[in-house]
Amino acid sequence: MTIEPKIPYKIYLSEDEMPKNYYNVRADMKKKPAPLLNPGTLEPMTAEELGGVFCDELVQQELNNTDQLIPIPQDIRDFYKMYRPSPLVRAYCLEEKLGTPAKIYYKFEGNNTSGSHKLNSAIAQAYYAKKQGLKGVTTETGAGQWGTALSMACAYLDLDCKVYMVKVSYEQKPFRREVMRTYGASVTPSPSETTTVGRKILAEHPGTTGSLGCAISEAVETATSTEGYRYVLGSVLSQVLLHQSIIGQETMAAMDKYNIDPDIIIGCAGGGSNLGGLISPFMGRKLRGENDYRFIAVEPKSCPSLTRGQYVYDFCDTGKVCPLAKMYTLGSGFIPSPNHAGGLRYHGMSSIVSELYDEGLIEARSYEQTEVFEAAEEFARCEGILPAPESSHAIKAAIDEALKCKENGEEKTIVFGLTGTGYFDMVAYQQYNDKTMSDYIPTDDEIRDSLSGVPQFPGNETK
Ligand SMILES: Cc1ncc(COP(=O)(O)O)c(C=O)c1O
Repeated sequence: MTIEPKIPYKIYLSEDEMPKNYYNVRADMKKKPAPLLNPGTLEPMTAEELGGVFCDELVQQELNNTDQLIPIPQDIRDFYKMYRPSPLVRAYCLEEKLGTPAKIYYKFEGNNTSGSHKLNSAIAQAYYAKKQGLKGVTTETGAGQWGTALSMACAYLDLDCKVYMVKVSYEQKPFRREVMRTYGASVTPSPSETTTVGRKILAEHPGTTGSLGCAISEAVETATSTEGYRYVLGSVLSQVLLHQSIIGQETMAAMDKYNIDPDIIIGCAGGGSNLGGLISPFMGRKLRGENDYRFIAVEPKSCPSLTRGQYVYDFCDTGKVCPLAKMYTLGSGFIPSPNHAGGLRYHGMSSIVSELYDEGLIEARSYEQTEVFEAAEEFARCEGILPAPESSHAIKAAIDEALKCKENGEEKTIVFGLTGTGYFDMVAYQQYNDKTMSDYIPTDDEIRDSLSGVPQFPGNETK
């Protein structure tokens, strides 16, 4: 008889057990994600074209559909040691509260000053920029987690960092802004008068409070017009999912130590980076026919790109200065209602996640924000961690799946990504506690309207 070892509340790996390679799920995908297209020629973007915007090494990673493992440079691994490996937590208290036979685990990525998983890719992108001898990088940030993470990475490597922050967040989250400035970044509310595209957007939409799509356009323009700068992005791109594969690899290593095999793996999905990173190695096993898992992507009902968008080529930004990506999209002109999960308010989705979803390998569902905050509070009260609104989408789905197990008497093992903490989201929690939080779900007409801006060319028609 084998005696099952008691699973600790937290499973920690040692520093030596941290992955030494990024895992590239595209290598195991039979049908590869569609390439980025040049919007002028509709031909796949070449390394040379991409090199004008992104760092050289990151361009290679973006285009690499074949190498399964990509070594993580020692300098990046040394930085990771400052806050990794992150714990895989058995949510014993939540299980007890729900009275479920399900076993619930979460991978906690909020244990660094940026408060989220974004630092995993920020340090990689900043490292390659530094290695190329660049002076600095530009980026956009919505809720502020990505901008904070990049500021931290740039401070460490002594790189300049220019952040365009969606205006509404800039005004609502002054402390996020100050954290970025403390790490030495310059933070500009977007849309701004500092770029041509910003001035155009302001002229067309006076008084707009901005969107991620606008901020991306401004950051790209600044990078391409400033000597020694490149643009970096916190999600959506395949290179970002590659860096985030460290989350899934650590999760798998921790579970393997105790012979645990999950049944269901859940992640919130904004641009798809944490979800993609968490599921990648498990998806690899599934794609290679070694094992089977259910994967669930969770998004807000106010910005339902997977559940209500269409799978076509679209612009990644509002100003239409970026390449075209094939993805589930609501249209690059889609301005989501002011949902508090700022990191999930993006019109599109990673092309890797989109392809896997289109092939039926990932499920997707959406929730209203009040039900998400209800789950967040339930989780905070028993597990102690105050979750980010984005992460709370995954919590809600994990709770729902655990309650289904209770109904059916099933002992499934559920893992979800707890991507960050919600200390800068207290206005949202206040609204929830005061019962003044509202839910806005776009109508079919609104989505059809914004999809009408999708570029039309043969094979790319929207339905
Ligand atoms: C805490 C947190 N979770 C999730 C997300 C969603 O991003 P992604 O889908 O790229 O993981 C964000 C984005 O800002 C975030 O800050």
